[in-house]
Amino acid sequence: MTTAQSSSAALTLTRPDDWHLHVRDGAMLAAVLPHTARQFARAIIMPNLKPPVTTTAQAEAYRARIVAALPPGVQFEPLMTLYLTDNTPADEIRRARASGVVHGVKLYPAGATTNSDAGVTDVMKCAKTLEAMQDAGMPLLVHGEVTDSAIDLFDREKVFIERVMEPLRRAFPALKVVFEHITTKDAADYVRDADAAPGLLGATITAHHLLYNRNAMFIGGIRPHYYCLPVLKRETHRLALVEAATSGNPRFFLGTDSAPHPKGLKQQACGCAGCYTALHALELYAEAFDQAGALERLEGFASFFGADFYGLPRNSEQITLARESWTLPDELMVGDASVVPLGGGEAIGWRLR
Ligand code: NCD
Ligand code: ZN
Repeated sequence: MTTAQSSSAALTLTRPDDWHLHVRDGAMLAAVLPHTARQFARAIIMPNLKPPVTTTAQAEAYRARIVAALPPGVQFEPLMTLYLTDNTPADEIRRARASGVVHGVKLYPAGATTNSDAGVTDVMKCAKTLEAMQDAGMPLLVHGEVTDSAIDLFDREKVFIERVMEPLRRAFPALKVVFEHITTKDAADYVRDADAAPGLLGATITAHHLLYNRNAMFIGGIRPHYYCLPVLKRETHRLALVEAATSGNPRFFLGTDSAPHPKGLKQQACGCAGCYTALHALELYAEAFDQAGALERLEGFASFFGADFYGLPRNSEQITLARESWTLPDELMVGDASVVPLGGGEAIGWRLR
């Protein structure tokens, strides 16, 4: 089934897509979009702008700003999403489906992460809207963490499965659901073992959750560029994520969750959550799959399973990754500010040609 060609020196595969991406807006958008467009053919664009993208009209306008920010001649398809609120009308789902440019609706539990204040306070408040999504075949993209302050930060994904994910999937058994950026063995096992028809349940996995455990945030001092949400977990969880990503199970596919923040907003007393990986996403995934001895499984995970889940054609172009060491820039300028890529200043063993 795989068409990937691998030798010790290079790996050629069908051009991948990024099924979970933050590109922001304005100057930041202009600075980061070329990185993604160089690596990926398409990306699911997260709607957590300030204010959030809650309507189809806003998604269409945001899509036009993204397309306008592409370097001349570059082919890249932004796949838009809506930000679900307690008050998203069911009609908005019909408009979104009819637009042809909205490919998912994002559930942020209110307060769970960056710009999630307008998120959902209780999913059952959205029952009518979720029913409309189920009828329209519109995927629900889920940030799977409870916000209950009594629950330990490291347990919020696990508790979300019991309290929200499982009841939600029981209430809407034909709803397409993506468990976004899973970070625990609990979530990987849940997605692997869930009783769901093909194409109804998927999960994205980031490169940083495949490569790092929570120690990365504290080695020699506090390292804000390794802080993201859901937060990095223990090594046992990282190993379970690597196993899931390299298993060949089509429920697991690539989503970088590349989330740029200006360096000053990450390096402060209360730093923002998010790792910037759009610059070198495929190189990071290649490192993770290579370490697991599973490079031949990268193409399914990166280029096929997400497209199949979203009902979109697989890409036909190819890309080549060379086994070649290079040093990541310390930071990238964005107007007067800068963004620090994950692992900035360090060497990486793969390079996109
Ligand atoms: C994301 C962001 O900065 O928008 N941050 C992150 O740590 N992943 C939000 C998100 O996806 O949770
Ligand atoms: Zn995200």
